[in-house]
Parts: sequence; C-alpha cells; structure tokens
Amino acid sequence: MPTPPSSRKAAPIRIAVIGAGVVGLSVALELRSRGAEVAVYDRGLELGAGVTIRSAGMLGVAFDWAAEGDDRSLAALARHAGMLWPDYAARVERLGGGSVELSSAGSLVVARTDAEAEWLEGLTAACQARGLPGHTLTRSALEAREPAITGKVRSALLLPEDQQVDPALLLQRLGAALARAGVGLRFGRHVEGIVGGQVFQMPDGDRFDRLVLATGVQAAPAFVGPRGAPLALGLPAPIPVKGQMLALAPSGQTPRHVIHTRDIYIAPKSRWVLVGASVERGRADTEVDPAVVAGFRKRGAELVGALAEAPELSAWAGIRPGSPDDAPLIGETAIPGVIAALGHYRNGVLLAPATAEIVADQIIDGKVSPLAGAFAPGRFDKGGEAPHSPSSSGLDN
Ligand code: GLY
Repeated sequence: MPTPPSSRKAAPIRIAVIGAGVVGLSVALELRSRGAEVAVYDRGLELGAGVTIRSAGMLGVAFDWAAEGDDRSLAALARHAGMLWPDYAARVERLGGGSVELSSAGSLVVARTDAEAEWLEGLTAACQARGLPGHTLTRSALEAREPAITGKVRSALLLPEDQQVDPALLLQRLGAALARAGVGLRFGRHVEGIVGGQVFQMPDGDRFDRLVLATGVQAAPAFVGPRGAPLALGLPAPIPVKGQMLALAPSGQTPRHVIHTRDIYIAPKSRWVLVGASVERGRADTEVDPAVVAGFRKRGAELVGALAEAPELSAWAGIRPGSPDDAPLIGETAIPGVIAALGHYRNGVLLAPATAEIVADQIIDGKVSPLAGAFAPGRFDKGGEAPHSPSSSGLDN
C-alpha cells in the first residue's frame, strides 16, 4: 500500500562541493548542518592544499577594505563575515575537536616615514567614513600594547575588529568536523565532464541535485548536457595572483597582533611568525625568490627587532584566486543548479563563513541574501547584470 504523503519523509537534497579549500569546506559544513547530504570533491590529496594552507589566516575586516580602495559592497560582506567568525570558530572547534587559534586582539597599522604617515592618515579617514572602529595610538599606548615593536614608528592605528586564525589548524578542525558530520571527502578526484540536467552526474557515477564550485584558482570543470553538448557556466577565468611568504620561528619578543605596514604584514601564530606577502598578478608559479624573502625579513626586523635573528622555518608561494574585479563570485551560474563560491582573492579565510551562509540560504531556503547582490557570477557576461562597482549594493552606510 502506498505511504500516505503526510507521513513520507522527503529525501535530503544531495549536494556536491568541488574544492576542498576553506571556502568549499565551510560551505559543505553549513549545507550539512542544514540537513543536506554533502560530498566534497578535490583533485588534490589533502584539505586546503591549494591556497588555504599557504595563507596568513588574517581576518582583515577593516584593514583590507580601508587600505585597498573604495569597495563598499565588499566592505559590508567583510564586516558581516567578521561578525560571524567568533561563532563559526567556536562551532568548528566544537565539532572538530580542537582550537583554531582565533585571536581577536585586532591589528596594528604603523607608519615609519612621512609618506607612510600620510598613507595611514588616509586609511584612518577611510575607516571613519565607513564607520569602522580605528583608534590612533600614542607612542606609549603602542609600546604598552605591542612591546615587540622596537623600530621607530611615526604613527599607529589599532583596528580592533580585525582578527586572525591559524589556517592549518582551521583546515584540520574542518576536516574532523566534516568527517564527524558524515560529509564524504573524495580526494584525488579530478572532476571533468559533469553531466548536467535534472541532476548532475559526476565522473564517478554519483548523482547530485546541486553543485557548488569552490575550485579557487583552478579552472572550473567542464559540463555537458545529457546529449553530450557542452554547457557554459558563464564564468570568467580565475586570475592567479602569486603571494610569497616567509615563516620565522618565534624567538625573543614576538608580536601579539597582526602588524601591517604599507609594504608588509607580520602575522604571529603560536607555531611561527609569518611575514609577507608579495602580490604578483597573473603569476601562477610557486617559485620562491630568495631576494623577496630576504626583503621580508629585513623590513620585518626593522620593525620587530626579534625577527632579525629568528631562524627561518619555511618560505613558500601561494596562488590567490583573483577575479576581473577582485571581488568574489557567489551565486548561481548560467547552469541552473550550479552555484559559484569563487574568486575570494586575498580573503578566502575571512569570507568563508559568510559565503557558506549565502550559498546555503540560496540552495536550502531559496533566499538570495542582499549581501550577495553585488557578487553575482554573471556580472561579467555581456548583456548580463551591471559589473560589480563600489556603490552597487548601497549596503554600507
Ligand atoms: N590576505 C593576505 C594576503 O593575501 O597576502
């Protein structure tokens, strides 16, 4: 006898996330927590082996947007992400069984020359215009707050909403949380030729109702229709932006805060102190240039004397996933049911929980977040929506 409709339980929606970086993993966790059946595919053999593991884990709610142009929609998304982070970190820690070393000490921005002081004044004004808290510090306040700074400083600003995390720990905890939640992690799977239609058939034969692309700087997989004709996603090619980084052993007086100058940042973790990073647009190689790394140490040590003699533990290059306007692509692509979570450029770690929320709202609840409007993946299509622009959402006040 057929089961009466009222007592029949709907099968959970099945979703494949392609890409096991911080964005893909965060999306997978959020979808799973909202009842979806989720599998994560990645061509690599480890979590976050693309760019996440090479990142500095800075959650630059204020610094990145105040320092880098006038993108108000992105600033609003970043600030929202910053607010999500404490609860998100607590959830990942609880489910993943350990700390991600979230620090809410804020970041310091320091100027050492007249030109840098002028730049810092501009940054302070940009923070004020955005309603982002920023406190100018006197010399004695700076000394008390960050005694590791030994170099001469002309002016300093504290950005209390900036946070940081250890990306390696984050990946480890996310992996454990997903395994515990029953999300399949399918490594070493290079997915190409996905068959789209009512459902999506992966090359391993498994079938899903929706797909999320979180492939970072890798080209998106190819899709074909049920009769083999190619299907276009309507996405721009990702733009690689190389970043070189130096990791020094913590020794002597190490900083408590992320410290930014106009040229470098210093991001102290318990395991090491990171000094970076270059921004090499269009470069996708991971070669490390000893001269670049030596420059990081020199400039870092001019500010934090203990870095002069700190043993070098490692140096690497990561490739950030840029987009034509350096804003992310979040939302449905030109293939219905395929959702982009791409192009997070310098802020994948910061924006991961906000991206996960937006994607899950859309797939599970059918809601398009007002925060996401400016990041529609189709914005680069000719004849599509207007390109992303600084004032396009009007969300910031
Ligand atoms: N978010 C830091 C960097 O891209 O270097």
